[in-house]
Amino acid sequence: MQTVEHIFEKNQTPKPLVLAINAVLEASKEIAFLLQKGAMSGILGSAEQENVQGETQKKLDVISNDLLKDILKACPVVAGIASEEEDLPVPANKDGEFLVIFDPLDGSSNIDINVTVGTIFSILPSNGNDASQESTYLQSGREQLAAGYVLYGPSTLLVMTTGQGVDVFTLDPETQEFVLTESQSTITPTTQEFAINMSNQRFWAESIQNYVGDLLQGEEGKLGKRYNMRWVAAMVAEVHRIINRGGIFMYPWDSREPAKPGKLRLMYEGNPMSMLVEQAGGLSSNGKIAIMDVVPEHIHQRVPVILGSKQEVETALKY
Ligand code: F6P
Ligand code: MN
Repeated sequence: MQTVEHIFEKNQTPKPLVLAINAVLEASKEIAFLLQKGAMSGILGSAEQENVQGETQKKLDVISNDLLKDILKACPVVAGIASEEEDLPVPANKDGEFLVIFDPLDGSSNIDINVTVGTIFSILPSNGNDASQESTYLQSGREQLAAGYVLYGPSTLLVMTTGQGVDVFTLDPETQEFVLTESQSTITPTTQEFAINMSNQRFWAESIQNYVGDLLQGEEGKLGKRYNMRWVAAMVAEVHRIINRGGIFMYPWDSREPAKPGKLRLMYEGNPMSMLVEQAGGLSSNGKIAIMDVVPEHIHQRVPVILGSKQEVETALKY
């Protein structure tokens, strides 16, 4: 049995980076515990509601954010953090080496229906720059030192890369350790499964209309094979399915908010997922270039996403 600590040793992951990742994992175990308690923890429902005792309830995504923030701020190697739930970057330790960027609870509309959610994280070097400044964080995905997610489903899983492939760990509920359960995951290059929110079809650009139109044509269409569709409505779960059995996931630009380039955020959704997908042999693009080559201008910047099985993403990009 190999724990995540054994894999850090095997990969010779630098000690300070291990400390930063472990801080994320410590918070994720607490989040997993709260999720398992569910309604009994009194934290379901929307923020700023009152529970029966008249106490103010906070939404679990706010609580998850606070847990991560507190643990990371107390970790001396962390220079600063940025989160989906924080408008501005939060500086942590002056001598810290790392910036930790995260989506504390991706797919949080799934919590109340007891369906999979996850914590997504990305670790960048601080390069000695001021971690209270947004500009310090605006590095492309290629600069990531580590990326991963913790998936809270029937099991709690950690899927992570430090640039040496993708490993999958399962949280042992008895020992509270992440145990290696799949080493060096790879994404199958071909697939017959796609994931996109079809209800937005009328708002998509023509190219996506044409590609998804051909997927729906099945064996009678240009692509000559029948496709199946899946939509969990949590990016973390779609990416996990793709890492397991291949597929293509898309959240393209659409005309609902034409000024915004899609729904998903580059720095804590697009980049970490792209690093995992590329490390597992898949492809990830914004439709023009690799997502990890996008130079960010804002922490909360959005990005169109097309990722998954290499050959299928290449087919989509031809459109
Ligand atoms: O964080 C955004 C997110 O929840 C993703 O996890 C998910 O892929 C997407 O939004 C779902 O969006 P929609 O509302 O279109 O189903
Ligand atoms: Mn999210």
